[in-house]
Amino acid sequence: MDLIRFEKFYYRYKGNEEYALNNINLRIEEDNFILLCGETGSGKTTLIRCMNGLIPQFYSGFYKGKVFVNEKDTINTPIAKLSTDVGIVFQNPENQLIAMNVEHEIAFGLENLGVPPKEISKRIKESTSLTEIEHILDKAPFELSGGEQQRVAIASILVLEPKILILDEPTALLDPYMAKKIINLIKEIQVERNLTIMISEHRLDLVLPFADQMILMRNGEAIEHDSRDDVLNGINFQNLMLNKPVIYTIFKRLRNENLFFGKIPASIPAAIDSMKKLQSE
Ligand SMILES: Nc1ncnc2c1ncn2[C@@H]1O[C@H](COP(=O)(O)OP(=O)(O)OP(=O)(O)O)[C@@H](O)[C@H]1O
Ligand SMILES: [Mg+2]
Repeated sequence: MDLIRFEKFYYRYKGNEEYALNNINLRIEEDNFILLCGETGSGKTTLIRCMNGLIPQFYSGFYKGKVFVNEKDTINTPIAKLSTDVGIVFQNPENQLIAMNVEHEIAFGLENLGVPPKEISKRIKESTSLTEIEHILDKAPFELSGGEQQRVAIASILVLEPKILILDEPTALLDPYMAKKIINLIKEIQVERNLTIMISEHRLDLVLPFADQMILMRNGEAIEHDSRDDVLNGINFQNLMLNKPVIYTIFKRLRNENLFFGKIPASIPAAIDSMKKLQSE
């Protein structure tokens, strides 16, 4: 079954002449780690806003086509109901954190859904332990560091126990070390919770090693959706104006110098394997 399905979906923001999304046809299936990748302004955030009904229910504009979340139509199903299937952490966690303290913040969504207090405590315990924020439950969100805020935002989505966790540039406001920790944490959460993850991220070096699939966006179109290694080695990825991963750049150079002929690896261990093979040839 598809967790999310776009069928011939078009979207134009009110007041804009250009379509931000152009004939999107996508199927997101369970148990995948998907990297959403594309130049700035290509439509990644807009695509994500369609996945919990924010578009078209909250953003006004013109749309055509359909989006289904767990077979529920995003046009008619209330956003609160979709939020138990799809959890989204947007780019700037500060704007998402509104409660007096972290514990209330995390409980907020569950209270709104009418979940019993005992169940709420149990879920808070689990999600704060997974995100390692048990020690800051009494703090106000504005007292936290960027990395802590990002963890709280993730925990407040995880308590809803969604089937798919979507993160829009979760490391944009973090330093490289914290960025790496957050991406590693997201991978751990996927394994622990058996979740599907979709992540829009410009720091490709960090996410690529974990990704199973990639979706490439260009000018409002999803131009490619395939396994990570196929997309990484394709012409579309090569042509996009992105900050390419270091490993990619090195192996491209080796290929141009006729020193390497295989597939470009996506992680350090895969790169080491490729080098070993080269040595033994
Ligand atoms: N709230 C909005 N109102 C009007 N136009 C918008 C709005 N949000 C995005 N757009 C426009 O839609 C297009 C796609 O933007 P979007 O934010 O989806 O791109 P993106 O791929 O997420 O870019 P980035 O990598 O910079 O985050 C752009 O032309 C942008 O100007
Ligand atoms: Mg964006």
